[in-house]
Amino acid sequence: MIRVETATAAETQAVAAKLAALAQPGDLLLLLGDLGAGKTAFTQGFGRALGVTQPITSPTFTLAQQYEGTSMRVHHLDVYRLEQLDEVSDLGLPELLDDNAVVLIEWGDAIVPMLPADYLEVRITFGEGDDDRALECTPIGPRWSARKAALQRDLGGSGPC
Ligand SMILES: Nc1ncnc2c1ncn2[C@@H]1O[C@H](COP(=O)(O)OP(=O)(O)OP(=O)(O)O)[C@@H](O)[C@H]1O
Ligand SMILES: [Mg+2]
Repeated sequence: MIRVETATAAETQAVAAKLAALAQPGDLLLLLGDLGAGKTAFTQGFGRALGVTQPITSPTFTLAQQYEGTSMRVHHLDVYRLEQLDEVSDLGLPELLDDNAVVLIEWGDAIVPMLPADYLEVRITFGEGDDDRALECTPIGPRWSARKAALQRDLGGSGPC
C-alpha cells in the first residue's frame, strides 16, 4: 500500500494525474471513501491528465458517464445508488473495460464480489483539517501489482508496497 497525504483538492487531483500517467486501457480503479472524501475530485484530476476536456461531474442520475481522453476513454461509475448486487451485470463492466478505456468506480467496495480481482484500490480518508486527506493506493491482482515500483516512485508516498 502506498499512502500519500494531500491538503487541497488540487493536490488530490495531482496525485490522480500521476496515477493516470501509469494507466493502461483495460485498467480498473476502485475509489473508496466516505461522502465528500474526494472520489469525484480524484476522477477529475485523473480524467484531465488523460486529456478529457469535458467537465467531469458526479454521475448522479446515471450510474455511468463516459469521457473521451486523448488516447483512451474514461468510464466513470458511481454505484452508491445501486440497490442490488445483480444490477452490476447491467453496467456491462467487461465491455467498458474492453472499450480502450480505463474504468473508475466510486463506492466500488460495495460490489467487490462482482468485480474482476484485478484493480487498483484508492482509499481516501479524512485527516485532521477540513481539507486534509490521505490516499491509500493498493494494487490488487497482477495488472497493478506489476506497476508497484512505478507507483512507489511516482507517488513518492510513504510505506512499502
Ligand atoms: N485534499 C482534498 N482532496 C480532495 N477533495 C478535497 C480536498 N480538500 C477539500 N476537498 C473538497 O472536498 C470535496 C470532495 O467532493 P467529491 O465530490 O470529490 O467527494 P466524493 O468522495 O466524490 O463524494 P460522494 O461520495 O458524495 O460522491 C470537494 O468539494 C473538494 O473540493
Ligand atoms: Mg462523488
